[in-house]
Amino acid sequence: MPIITTENGQTFSCHETDTIARAALRAGLGFPYECNSGSCGTCKFTLVEGTIDDLMPGASGITERDVRKQRKLGCQSRPCGDLAIKVNFDEAYVPIHQPSATRATLISIEPVTHDIYSWRFKPEQRIDFLPGQYALINIPGVGERAYSMSGTGTEAYLEFMIKKVPGGKVSNLLFNLPEASALPEIIIDGPYGIAHYRTRNCVKVCLAGGSGLAPMLSIARAHLAAGALEPLHFFFGGKTDADLLSPEAFRALVADHAGQINYYPVASEQTRVAGTLNGFLHTAFFDVFNADLNGLDIYCAGPPALTSALELALSEKGFSPEHLFFDRYC
Ligand SMILES: Cc1cc2nc3c(=O)[nH]c(=O)nc-3n(C[C@H](O)[C@H](O)[C@H](O)COP(=O)(O)OP(=O)(O)OC[C@H]3O[C@@H](n4cnc5c(N)ncnc54)[C@H](O)[C@@H]3O)c2cc1C
Ligand code: FES
Repeated sequence: MPIITTENGQTFSCHETDTIARAALRAGLGFPYECNSGSCGTCKFTLVEGTIDDLMPGASGITERDVRKQRKLGCQSRPCGDLAIKVNFDEAYVPIHQPSATRATLISIEPVTHDIYSWRFKPEQRIDFLPGQYALINIPGVGERAYSMSGTGTEAYLEFMIKKVPGGKVSNLLFNLPEASALPEIIIDGPYGIAHYRTRNCVKVCLAGGSGLAPMLSIARAHLAAGALEPLHFFFGGKTDADLLSPEAFRALVADHAGQINYYPVASEQTRVAGTLNGFLHTAFFDVFNADLNGLDIYCAGPPALTSALELALSEKGFSPEHLFFDRYC
C-alpha cells in the first residue's frame, strides 16, 4: 500500500483506491477538509514527490495558480505510489470517530416534504458518528455524494434526508426507485465533518436551508435526547410555504412532545401561513435575535449562498467564529 510522508515526517498509508484526505483521517490525523466533494478547497496539499490520480480534474476547489504550484485536492487525489507531500495538519480536524466504509442496504423511503425524503440504510458494520456529521454514499456505477445523517448516532440504521435536485444524478436515481429493495447494495463511508453538536451549556440556534434539514434535525434530536435544558431555536427555510414543515410536523419529526424547541418556518417568497416568517433564512434569524447574539452556539447547513451570507453577517457583528459551525452543501 502506498506510504504518504509529510514534510514534518508524519507517515500514513493510503490504499490506491482511497483518497489522501480520507486515508489520513482514517489514520486519526487532522487533514483539513470540509466538503469531501472537490468544491471548497480546504483540503489542498502540495505534491513534493510522486504521482497522483486526480479524480476530478478542473474541480472548483482548485485554481490555475494551484495547478502551477503543484497544489492538489486531498479529497480528489489517489496515490499512484509512495508520495511526499506538504500539508498543515490541524487539531480541529482530528476525527473523534475515525471514518470507515461499509456496505449498506436501503430499508425504507418516507416523504418528509414534497421534495425531501427520508432514506434509511442498514449498514453491514456500525458507523459511529456525532450529531451533525455526514457520510459519503457511493452508488456503484453511478457516483458518490455527501449526505448528512439525521439521527442521533444511537440508532441501528443510518437515516439521511435528501432533497430532489432537478436533473441531479444521484438524488433523482433515489427518488425514482419504485421501492427500497430496488436499490442494489451501496457503500457508505463516514463519518466526516466538524460541524457537529457541542454539548456545552449555552443557547443553541439551528439554521436549516432546504437540503440542510438532516444535520440540523440530528442536532435537535440529540439536544432533546440528552435532556439538555438550554433553549434551542430551529429555523427551517424554503422558497414557499409548500417547502416547509408545519410546527406539528416538525415536532413529530424531532419527537419534541413537550414543545421544548422554538421552531421558526421561514419562506423566502411571500407566505400565506400565519406564524411563518418571510425573507431569507439568515435575515429572519437576525430579525428574531436582533443584536443579542451573546452566548449562542450557531449551527447552519445548506447551500453556500446561505452559509456565506450568514458567516459574513455574523463576522460584521463581531460574532466569534468559534461559536459558528456549518457545512456548505457545495
Ligand atoms: C458536506 C455535505 C453534506 C450534504 N448533505 C446533504 C443532505 O443531507 N441532503 C441533501 O439533500 N444534500 C446534501 N448535500 C448535497 C449532495 O451531496 C448533492 O450535491 C446533491 O444531492 C445533488 O446531487 P445529485 O447527484 O442529485 O446532483 P448532480 O448535479 O448530479 O451532482 C451534484 C454535484 O456533485 C458533484 N459531482 C459530480 N460528479 C461527482 C463525482 N464523481 N464525485 C463527487 N462529486 C461529484 C458535482 O460537483 C455536482 O455539482 C451535501 C453536500 C455536502 C458537501
Ligand atoms: S474538502 Fe476537498 S475540496 Fe472541499
